[in-house]
Amino acid sequence: MSNMTANNQIRTTGELNSALNTQLANWSVLGVKLHNYHWFVKGPQFFTLHAKFEELYNTAAEYVDELAERLLAIGGKPAATMSEYLKLSVIQEASGEPSADQMVEALAADLGTIAEGLKAGIEAAGEQGDDVTADLFTGMKADVEKQAWMLSAFLGK
Ligand SMILES: [Fe+2]
Repeated sequence: MSNMTANNQIRTTGELNSALNTQLANWSVLGVKLHNYHWFVKGPQFFTLHAKFEELYNTAAEYVDELAERLLAIGGKPAATMSEYLKLSVIQEASGEPSADQMVEALAADLGTIAEGLKAGIEAAGEQGDDVTADLFTGMKADVEKQAWMLSAFLGK
């Protein structure tokens, strides 16, 4: 019985650490993607989107640091190289020459993907009784969903 509990705990700790590292990798890759879009966006919405993408990459940078430091605080090891981020990230890097609308569409989809991962992370944190990580993920999910709504509204959806 106690062995089963111990194994269960190891399994859920692993899941939680992996959820934190996946989010860390997602936000690292998304941060670079947002810089790419910030620099290369063109057209009549340039000033709006240039500023919006900057706001979002600043948020991404904050999240990267918060996620890594939460992992350290619970005895985990944050991924800390670009190659690990590319391997772990569910978010794809920027590619091609997207239009302004295609950039916004890609970001709305990325934020949707991130929100799904955060939902799984909140569950893993809950199973672990880790309210602080659950709160961290919940705060991020609320913000991500709000940003995804605003990007969709920009597209007239
Ligand atoms: Fe800039």
